Formats: sequence, C-alpha cells, structure tokens
Amino acid sequence: MSYIEPVFRPPSEWKSLILQVTNGCSWNRCTFCEMYTAPQKRFRPQDLEAIEAQLRHIVEAGYPVYRVFLADGDAMTLSVRRLHEIMDMLNRWLPHKPRVSAYCLPRNLRNKSVEDLRELREKGLSLLYVGCETGDTGLLARIQKGETFDSSLEALQKMHAAGIKSSVMILNGLGGPGFSEQHARESARLMNAAQPNYLSTLVVEFPGGTKRFTEAFGEGWRKLNKMELFREMEILLEALELENTIFRSDHASNYLVLKGILGKDKEQLLQTVRTAIHQPGCIPLREEWQRGL
Ligand SMILES: C[S@@+](CC[C@H](N)C(=O)[O-])C[C@H]1O[C@@H](n2cnc3c(N)ncnc32)[C@H](O)[C@@H]1O
Ligand code: SF4
Repeated sequence: MSYIEPVFRPPSEWKSLILQVTNGCSWNRCTFCEMYTAPQKRFRPQDLEAIEAQLRHIVEAGYPVYRVFLADGDAMTLSVRRLHEIMDMLNRWLPHKPRVSAYCLPRNLRNKSVEDLRELREKGLSLLYVGCETGDTGLLARIQKGETFDSSLEALQKMHAAGIKSSVMILNGLGGPGFSEQHARESARLMNAAQPNYLSTLVVEFPGGTKRFTEAFGEGWRKLNKMELFREMEILLEALELENTIFRSDHASNYLVLKGILGKDKEQLLQTVRTAIHQPGCIPLREEWQRGL
C-alpha cells in the first residue's frame, strides 16, 4: 500500500486493511494532538480512483480481508454520498462484505441523519471510534476539541440508533490537577448517558513537548504523576454506571493495565486501582521505557 505517512489506527485494528480514504484530520485543532500536523498531512479527501487502485492491488495479491479501517483522522467527515461510494466499492471488491470501521468526530455526524447512518450500516459500516477525550465541556473548550458534552452525546446516540457500535477514548490526565476530578466525573456522566460498546482510556502524552498545549490551556496545567492518574481513574470508575461496555486501559501510554467488562467487573477493577494507590509495588506497572503513544 502506498500511504501518506504517518498513518494511525486504533490498536484493535491491527488485522484490518487500512484504507486511506482521506489524508489527515479535517479539524486538526485539538491542542494535545500532533498526529496530523506534518506538512504532508494537510487534510484532503483521497480520489476514488486512487482508493480503488489500492483496493485492487490488495485483492489481486490475494490478501484475506475481513475488516477494513477507513483512515485517516476522521473519515466520517466525508459526505454521505462519498461514504456510499466507498462502501459500494468495498463490497464490489470484497463481496463477502467485510466489517468496516473509522474514526469519527461528533461534528462529522451533524449533517447526517440516523437513516443515512443506517443505510451505511447496512453496507457494512459497523464501528466508529470517537475521541470524546472528556465529558467536561469547559475542558473540551480549553483543549480546542470543538465539541461539548451535548454534541458528543448526541453523536453517540445517533450512531447507536443506526445500529453502529461505538468505541470511545477518554484521556487520563488531560485536565491537569485543576480539572482532574471534574474531568473524571463529567466523563463518567457522558459515558453513563451514552452507554458505549467499548471504552478505552489513554494517558495524555506529549512526545513533542507541552508548549503548544499549555499555552492554549491557560494557567495551572501540569502533567499528573502516577498516583494522581490512578486517583483520577478511581473517581472515573466509581462514577461509571455502565451496563455492558468492554473497558480497556491497556494502551501503551497507561502505567496501570486494566481490562474488563463494565458494570460486571467494576468492583474488581476498582480494587486493582485502589491497591495501586494504597499498596505501591503490589501491582506491576509499566516502566517509562515500556510506555509510548
Ligand atoms: C488519531 S486520533 C483520531 C480520533 C478522532 N480524530 C477523534 O478525535 O475522535 C485518536 C486518539 O488518539 C488520542 N490522542 C491524540 N493525541 C494524544 C496525546 N497527545 N496523548 C494521548 N492520546 C492522544 C486521542 O484520544 C484521539 O482521539
Ligand atoms: S484528536 Fe482527532 S480531531 Fe483532534 S486533532 Fe487529533 S485527529 Fe483531529
């Protein structure tokens, strides 16, 4: 495949065909995110012919394709018409109808109806990854996400109404010490209202330095230390009232690896976090050198 690098995908899409239907992110303003800031990653939809050429290459080479991830940062920004063209093309080349997923910003769905999404679902679009990052509207403004509690909830409810599954990302440590508790509580409130199918938490990291982020954030942001991150996780888990959500906090950025199904495993997960807080050394943590974005 000839990609415009770098290309990012969710960890769980490691077996999927990554099809770059757009380059970059249509928003690209979140102050914590440097994923698509390189000059060659300026946002643009890819030509249909170029997408089809990539697909033909894979199919003719005989690679088995059961899942497809539509890259880059928010493929759902494309029009309903263009998304149909892509789904039709996929189903023409891969008639066994692979499961298709993509990153999606809440604003990507603003002009798409439940019916639009249901039709795409029928063609195989089955899972959308949404970087909510936090449920706290004040914090969302500080990080320039361009979304609110309500806009995030509305988008998640719309995809569920269309039968599309959701996988939400929340960023541990995003608000520094000043916002930590309200970030955890509001994120839990958003998740409780939305009941996502998957929820994962990552620790916010700044491989390129914190300057851009802290300048936009205003006073009072600093990185949380491990104990503060665990305390934030404890507040989040305590407040989560989920019925059947696969919870993962095992991304390489996490010090403490947590996995389970919420609500069933809530007490067990909380027990692990509390042990990490109150009996340091009893739960193995990732070393700095083992961590990454
Ligand atoms: C490639 S982005 C795409 C998701 C989509 N554009 C969105 O914002 O919903 C995937 C996710 O990576 C995470 N991410 C981005 N920058 C990060 C950082 N500096 N530290 C930790 N996680 C980060 C965020 O959770 C973000 O939603
Ligand atoms: S977090 Fe998502 S929406 Fe924000 S800049 Fe990065 S890719 Fe774009």
